[in-house]
Amino acid sequence: MDKAGFPRKPAKLSASPASNIPKDDIPEALRDTPVLKRRSRLRRSLLIIAPLGLGAIALISAMLLPKPDVNSATTQEPTEASLEASESESESEADDLLGHLPYEEAPLSELQRITADGSIKLRTPAANKFQEMSAAARRSGVILVPLSAFRSVAKQEYLFFDVKAQRGQVASKRAEVSAPPGYSEHHTGYAIDIGDSMTPATNLSPSFENTAAFKWLEQNAAYYSFEMSFPRDNPQGIDYEPWHWRFVGDSHSLETFYKAKKVADPVSNLSVEPIEGWEQSEK
Ligand code: DAL
Ligand code: ZN
Repeated sequence: MDKAGFPRKPAKLSASPASNIPKDDIPEALRDTPVLKRRSRLRRSLLIIAPLGLGAIALISAMLLPKPDVNSATTQEPTEASLEASESESESEADDLLGHLPYEEAPLSELQRITADGSIKLRTPAANKFQEMSAAARRSGVILVPLSAFRSVAKQEYLFFDVKAQRGQVASKRAEVSAPPGYSEHHTGYAIDIGDSMTPATNLSPSFENTAAFKWLEQNAAYYSFEMSFPRDNPQGIDYEPWHWRFVGDSHSLETFYKAKKVADPVSNLSVEPIEGWEQSEK
């Protein structure tokens, strides 16, 4: 028997969770329905009062807190122009390295030789146009000499780091004349260094601008979709390179040089072997 005088039925009933007790096993007087009713009335009242209270607090806060000054510089929304400026700033910071832009290495399968020994190659459309341009120059008595064209990232590693060390140059000085690996237009297979067969002493030198080959290129290269990459005072801050020309005669080459680019890991192609040959490389 329990305190209320009912037979204490099951030891297991008192040990069981209340939810397991069949309602009919509990005397009606002890069922908790009235408590539930009281609770739901209380909940209903709270549901009505709470939003009113919150509304009152919001109203008082709005009246008491200082209003934001829409003309103040500190509270102004960023303008479209300022957003664009900061975007392009961070893009150029993310993209360039010492003034050079990242370029992907052309697949060897897309390269075509432009010299008899096969040591100098360009991407096929650029190679075809270069041959056409050379033939035209030759007809005018000018012999354009290919000095260097496609270069692998591995080859550029040597040209940048090894030559820099041999000369005791700091990176920024080296970068004035040589792109860091992963950042040379030569990786694309669209860029070529050109000499004049009559004046080899001017190869890869600013004095190339005094040669017949340069003068011919200046007047005619655009007809073959070649342009000088690094004229004087170029925005990239690279030294003047009158010998370095790039092909922009199809969508891929144009996009390669003019579209904003982000290359996730430009040094990931390091496994590609450099092409051996007699080619002359830039300073
Ligand atoms: N001389 C040019 C910048 C290059 O190394 O690609
Ligand atoms: Zn070059």
